[in-house]
Amino acid sequence: MSALIEAASPHVMNTYGRLPIALERGQGCRVWDVNGKEYLDALGGIAVNTLGHNHPKLVPALQEQIAKLIHCSNYYHVPGQEQLAAQLVELSGMSNVFFCNSGLEANEAALKIARKFGVDKGIAKPQIVVYEKAFHGRSIATMSATGNPKIHSGFGPLVEGFIRVPLNDIDAIRQATEGNPDVVAVFFETIQGEGGINPMRAEYLRQLRALCDERGWLMMIDEVQCGMGRTGKWFAHQWAGIVPDVMPLAKGLGSGVPVGAVVAGPRAANVLQPGNHGTTFGGNPLAMRAGIETIRIMQEEGLLENAARVGAHLKAALQNALGHLPGVKEIRGQGLMLGIELDRPCGPLLGRAAEAGLLMSVTADSVIRLVPALILTSAEADEIVARLAPLVQAFLAE
Ligand SMILES: Cc1ncc(COP(=O)(O)O)c(C=O)c1O
Repeated sequence: MSALIEAASPHVMNTYGRLPIALERGQGCRVWDVNGKEYLDALGGIAVNTLGHNHPKLVPALQEQIAKLIHCSNYYHVPGQEQLAAQLVELSGMSNVFFCNSGLEANEAALKIARKFGVDKGIAKPQIVVYEKAFHGRSIATMSATGNPKIHSGFGPLVEGFIRVPLNDIDAIRQATEGNPDVVAVFFETIQGEGGINPMRAEYLRQLRALCDERGWLMMIDEVQCGMGRTGKWFAHQWAGIVPDVMPLAKGLGSGVPVGAVVAGPRAANVLQPGNHGTTFGGNPLAMRAGIETIRIMQEEGLLENAARVGAHLKAALQNALGHLPGVKEIRGQGLMLGIELDRPCGPLLGRAAEAGLLMSVTADSVIRLVPALILTSAEADEIVARLAPLVQAFLAE
């Protein structure tokens, strides 16, 4: 461990189980640590670095913006908000956007929209359907919506008003909400990220859309991790041909600059009125420029198609190299959001992969997660497999 890393730890709160690595710079899908060691980055800052590192079009645009105006305040109009909102509206088929700074903030805003949507209809104690294994953030409310008891532990009492159901089971949600007039919304990830790369089936999403319409519920889809082109469409739910009423976004939207957004369709767009919600930093000119340029560059460089094509290549190569091993339960996911589920906890693989020059993550204890930048090439995908497969083989043979 370098002196720099040791010196960094005593004053930073001990909230992460960190690897003994400090990254210094990046280029494309590669990063280098303070000791000059190179890594292939299959984590992308946990699905954040859409354009990779030091993108030649993004960096000058951000530099220009920083020199012009970083932050003002929402006392004033921010033209970048209108521009980024117009892009998101066009890509989503929805109608209005609220800007914030992170995934949990976007989800908090969505939960507030759902509650007020209910209260405006005369429902005093609105309830929201959420899912097993879901992850929506670490604030008190988004943590309560999260379906992982480990994350709740030590932070009770949880926020009330959530009904939890299993994934992909339309009868279960019908039963859980039977005769309950207080339900106002359903809230879920199209592909659960932290929960272990668990996709909602397209047919289930269509049934759920119909159920929301039948019951007058808001369909709220947390696309914080699976959205922004990662699966090969702008938003993962678009594979099912549905449109949600509320869609929180963050992570990949700013390609590394913190920015969150809640996109709303006509049923939800006017729920929040002046004084109901706000944020100091949300929608600042720098964050808006990051979002605008990220989308523009993605379009220019065909990154949706790239995510779909290289993702399919990566999945097939993983299947080929690992699919036959008895300890590999499933290789799943779509585009550049892939998970390899093993039959045992595999946390130690994180450090071993880093030693072998590969950054990735392990989630839900036993799922190796790959969420690289959307600029990944097929050659880089092959390199991921070449570095990862021997480690997994050796681990399973222990
Ligand atoms: C689906 C989903 N929602 C919300 C969040 C929380 O986002 P943030 O860490 O930006 O608050 C995450 C983070 O992993 C996520 O994956």
